[in-house]
Amino acid sequence: MVGVDVEAAADFLRDRLPFTPSVQVILGSGLSHLVTQVSDATTVSFEEVPGFPPSGVEGHSGAYVAGYLDGTPVLLQAGRYHAYEGHPMEVVVAPVRVAVALGVEVLIVTNAAGGIDGKLGPGDLMLIEDQINLTFHSPLAGPVYGEGHRFPDMSAPYDPVLQRCALEVAADLGIELTRGTYAAVLGPSYETAAEVRMLARLGAHAVGMSTVPEVTVARAAGLRCLGFSMVTNKGTGLSPDPIGHEEVIEVGRVAGARLGLLLGGVLGRLSATGYSEETE
Ligand code: HPA
Repeated sequence: MVGVDVEAAADFLRDRLPFTPSVQVILGSGLSHLVTQVSDATTVSFEEVPGFPPSGVEGHSGAYVAGYLDGTPVLLQAGRYHAYEGHPMEVVVAPVRVAVALGVEVLIVTNAAGGIDGKLGPGDLMLIEDQINLTFHSPLAGPVYGEGHRFPDMSAPYDPVLQRCALEVAADLGIELTRGTYAAVLGPSYETAAEVRMLARLGAHAVGMSTVPEVTVARAAGLRCLGFSMVTNKGTGLSPDPIGHEEVIEVGRVAGARLGLLLGGVLGRLSATGYSEETE
């Protein structure tokens, strides 16, 4: 593992966190402000964790925040490492491997994404039902890590039971949530209009620069995953407006509140069922 001793990082966090987390939530671009919604927060910045490099993208503060969202204990990962920053895949997925070492059972991923499906526009929430890896890298290339499989099954990267739970919570809260496929590209340039047309033909509904490596590693380790895309803009060519990182962050800030409500509801249901496979 390049530069990150996962066990040392997990030992360090175990000492600092007030509880053993069952769920880790990765907060994507513009969504880190959701950490303000947890009570009794314990914050550990990435810089403090042995082996973790600083994370430098605006909108990603790079910290773990353990606390209670609507009364449910949760470990928030505010910020992530991206391959486009030049981080090797081992670093990109290190926080997930640490989650596995800590005993996390459910990984909830969120991201900012461009809408490829014409119906998805700024502020819309998409439940990720499947993913397409267009980064042309795999975090699983190389020696098999830990107890993982050489060829993990990817027929259901996003847990169907958790998806149903999220759809029910969204309906209860009156939050519109459409289902779709998330395509991950390397970035950091946004897509050309031709690439957006290609992504639509490939069956993607939203596009972003994260999530797929983390979910791939989580599945290889047997974690159950749930994913949400916060659509911050229409894909290039689908709207006359150019795409800027500032707008991406701003939409996340405004519309992220709905995602916070949804996460609170989902976590409440999960903890009520003891994080079992039978989330009813
Ligand atoms: N493309 C890729 N990543 C993104 C986008 C986009 O349009 N919007 C937010 N993240």
